[in-house]
Amino acid sequence: MAQYHSKPVNEQGLVDWSVEEDRVWRDLVKRQLSLVEKRACKEYLAGLRMLDLPLERAPQIVDINKVLASATGWQVEPVPALINFDRFFALLAEKKFPVATFLRSREEFDYLQEPDFFHEIFGHCAMLTNPEFAKFTQTYGQLGREASDKERVYLARLYWFTVEFGLVKEGDETKIYGGGILSSPGETLYALDDPAAKREVFDIHTVLRTPYRIDIMQPEYFVLDDIQQLYKLSQMDLMFHVKQAMKAGLLPPLFEPKEVTHA
Ligand SMILES: [Fe+2]
Repeated sequence: MAQYHSKPVNEQGLVDWSVEEDRVWRDLVKRQLSLVEKRACKEYLAGLRMLDLPLERAPQIVDINKVLASATGWQVEPVPALINFDRFFALLAEKKFPVATFLRSREEFDYLQEPDFFHEIFGHCAMLTNPEFAKFTQTYGQLGREASDKERVYLARLYWFTVEFGLVKEGDETKIYGGGILSSPGETLYALDDPAAKREVFDIHTVLRTPYRIDIMQPEYFVLDDIQQLYKLSQMDLMFHVKQAMKAGLLPPLFEPKEVTHA
């Protein structure tokens, strides 16, 4: 796996993307735009229009922040490739979405485990223009900031099955709002169409108890009735549900345990 480091952000808030990085962005966006047009939820597509991301070069955070500031008061915050949970929750609580300023290499064009600039910006920022989604994400940060380590592990599943891998009903159709899906061409198709994947009605108790793996296509997705449901979740006593889920324990995983190697 390539070793990634965030690129420096100068005093004007700009990243000096190289010609090759601009091309990587262009190729990623070109491929993904045609896929999400008919598969992403209307809130995501509206956000994408507001962001008006460049197609021929990697975007700049300052431009994204202007749009987010007027839509929901959110900001994108440049961070090193990896940050700890304390910092992650604290940033979300302050309506700052952490974004590492590196782009994947050509060798990992289709899939990489580390969230890169394309995943964060193309996958997540459009939904952050939506007030209900934005409120839910901030509440998640506030709860996580105060939670114990064990509670955080349970809370992380809520984030995983919503912000990262969430699906939502739209009339008779199912659409995508999760950034982990929308930044991955393979999973954009698989999540909606593959008969191998389960698509369950969103239930908070089940979600909090469902184990996941970060290195495979998800065997199971949870489908919201609508995006407003995220706002309703943010108004519930979510920590009560976390405690209930901790008492009940994890559900049996739908995947094989990950093989441990010592390579
Ligand atoms: Fe993400």
